[in-house]
Order: sequence, then C-alpha cells, then structure tokens
Amino acid sequence: MEAVQKEMTQRKICCVAGARPNFLKVAPLIAQFRRQGDISVYLIHTGQHYDTTMSDAFFEELEIPAPDVHLGVGSGTHGRQTGRIMERMEPILLAEDPELVIVVGDVNSTLAAALVAVKLQIPVAHVEAGLRSFDRTMPEEINRVLTDAISSLLFCTEPAAVENLRREGIGRDKIFLVGNVMIDSLIRRLEKARSSDILGRMGLKPRGYAVLTLHRPSNVDREEAFLKIVQALEVICRDVDVVFPVHPRTRQRIAAGPAGERLGTLAGLHLVEPLGYSDFLKLMMDSCAVLTDSGGIQEETTFLGVPCLTLRNNTERPITLEIGTNRLAGTEPDSILEVWRDLRSGKWKPDGRIPDLWDGRAAERITAVIRRYLGIQG
Ligand code: UD1
Repeated sequence: MEAVQKEMTQRKICCVAGARPNFLKVAPLIAQFRRQGDISVYLIHTGQHYDTTMSDAFFEELEIPAPDVHLGVGSGTHGRQTGRIMERMEPILLAEDPELVIVVGDVNSTLAAALVAVKLQIPVAHVEAGLRSFDRTMPEEINRVLTDAISSLLFCTEPAAVENLRREGIGRDKIFLVGNVMIDSLIRRLEKARSSDILGRMGLKPRGYAVLTLHRPSNVDREEAFLKIVQALEVICRDVDVVFPVHPRTRQRIAAGPAGERLGTLAGLHLVEPLGYSDFLKLMMDSCAVLTDSGGIQEETTFLGVPCLTLRNNTERPITLEIGTNRLAGTEPDSILEVWRDLRSGKWKPDGRIPDLWDGRAAERITAVIRRYLGIQG
C-alpha cells in the first residue's frame, strides 16, 4: 500500500506562468490538480511581470500557491527576455525532470518555456492553443504559432482555434476543444467581485462609466498612435466617465509625451493603478462598455455580456465577434467613435450569449486529458 502511495505521489508535471494573464489561467488548473492529489505541480514563475499589482496581488487573490521557483527575469527586449527565461529554466527542468510542461497563453514566457521543455524532450501542453490574429507584427502571434508547432497537447477555447491548428497540419489527436480556463477563474471569483466596493470608492454609478485598458506596443509605444486614441477619448469622456487602470508599460508612455499630457487634462477620466482581479471584474460588469486592446478582456466581457470595443484591427478571438459582445473599433478616432455612437444610440446591443464550454469546467477537462496522456486512471 505504501509503495503504491509512493508511486502515486511521484508523478510530477510543471506549470509555467510569467505575466498577469497567465496567473488567471494557471490558477484553476493548479487547483484542480491539487484536488485530485496524485500529480504534483511544480510551479515556475518566470518573473516577466514582477510589480506587486501585476503579480503578487494575483497570486494572493486567486489563491495560487507560492511558486516553487521564481526566475526573476524582469523586463527587457524580446530576445533578451526570452533568452533569459530559457537560460534560467533549463537547469530547473533538468533537475526536476517533470513528465510534462504546461504553458498558457501567448506571452514571451509561454514560448520560452515551451522551447526549453521540448528540446529536453519533455512534452508540452499548450492551454489556449490555436488562436490566430494572422498579424505577425504582434509579438504574441509569433509566440502562439511557434508554441503550437512544438506542443504535444493543444487545448482550445473556441472552434476557430481548432480549425487554425488543423490548417497548420497539426493532428486531430493532439487537439482538444475544452473551453476557457480564464472563464473558470472568472466564475470562481464572481461572488467576491459582486461584493467589491470599488464603485463606491470611486464615486461611480452602475452603467454610468466605461472602462479602458491599453498596453499594446502598437497603440502606446508610438506617440502618433497613442494620440489618435486620446483624440477619441476626448469625445467619449464628454458622454461618460472613463476608468483607466494603467499598465506599467503605458504608465511609462504617459509620463513621456504629449499623449499623456492631453490625457491628464480630460475631465471624467480616472487614471488609476492596475487593479486587483475582483475589483476589476466588478468594474467591468457594472460598466456601460469596455474599451481595450487586451486579448483576455474581449473574452471576459463576452462572458459578462458587456459591450467591448476592441482598439485593434483584428482579433485572435473571433467567437467574441460572432456572439456580438465585441466589435473591432480599430485605432483611428473616426472608427472608434463610429462604434461608440452605435452603442450610445442603441444600434449595437449585445444579446448576452455565452460560448459553448465557457462554463467554469475547462480545467476539469484539461486535467482529464492530461491524466489520460500520462496513463493515469480515473
Ligand atoms: C505582456 C505580454 C502581452 C500581455 C501583457 C499583459 C508579451 C510579448 N506580451 O505584455 O501579451 O497581454 O503582458 O499584461 O509577452 N513592467 C513593469 N512591471 C511589471 C511588468 C512590466 O514595470 O510587473 C513594464 C516594464 O518596463 C516592461 C513593460 O512594462 O518593459 C512591458 O512589460 P512586458 O512583460 O515586456 O510586456 P507587456 O506589455 O506587459
């Protein structure tokens, strides 16, 4: 009996997270493996995101266990960040010798970890596989395509992702449509979010404000592009208050140029630090709309039935457009304001459907597949 027990506790996989959206995705997976108890999960934090508000606060709120190791890679150019993660992760995987490495999302940490693992002949499972914007100027698109090409298990959130992978020649037997682990996290925190007092603290009324997030290099790193979005905001802020939790990358840009100066003059714009998860969820669910260039927020607003104006010309998450909560508003003042006016006039009214399998049970489905893959019964 003891021998069997020992044998069971010896199974080990590794899970990698590095940036804020990753933490939301690994949380339900780790919780599910812990509940089952017979596979231990060694958690690597790459340190791509390191500010308290971007990292520690999420670990605490989502009750993610402390990482087994923190690689402390910090910021840098893409090559440097990716290279550092690879260099620091290799000895750890060699020492820990996991049976599988789970990577999530599309950030530099995702690709770096997948590359190290596969070169050590450790199979990789990619959670949130197959999403494609078909825009290779996006660093995330490169991370997605390459990670998928070297993964052994590919877990998809929506049917288009499955089709993309099939088109790229990936075998059916490796692809699993399982739903969305980020929505698992959302569902788990809904009650807590509902009781957040963020609206009171900020003096906001339900539906009387919009939420803005902006961090994509193509929108904030070029002053000219950033100014165009600010121009649209000048009009939107005349209609409603806008709450803007500012990502560190964007904070630097705001401090550096005229777009930031103009933002500072907008009455009705609330510039705030990055928020905790429950507060941010509450802000989204009670807003009249969300304006964003994030990927994950397009999905969260779809689940919440909140209109989302995506400040990009493409999306890797087409189901959000099909359902109708999301519209591509582009990055020009005219295109953004056209969608905004459609919303204000009632011409655009999302009907609040939720995509199949976005039901809070994606982590269960993923762990079941992984257990089968590792030959574990039950
Ligand atoms: C990364 C991801 C992006 C994801 C986003 C979520 C890549 C290529 N991009 O973008 O897909 O949507 O995270 O937030 O992986 N910084 C801090 N403190 C932090 C983190 C970042 O000050 O805790 C600053 C650094 O100066 C850094 C800059 O923000 O240079 C950008 O950080 P980085 O991790 O390179 O990319 P993100 O823009 O956060």
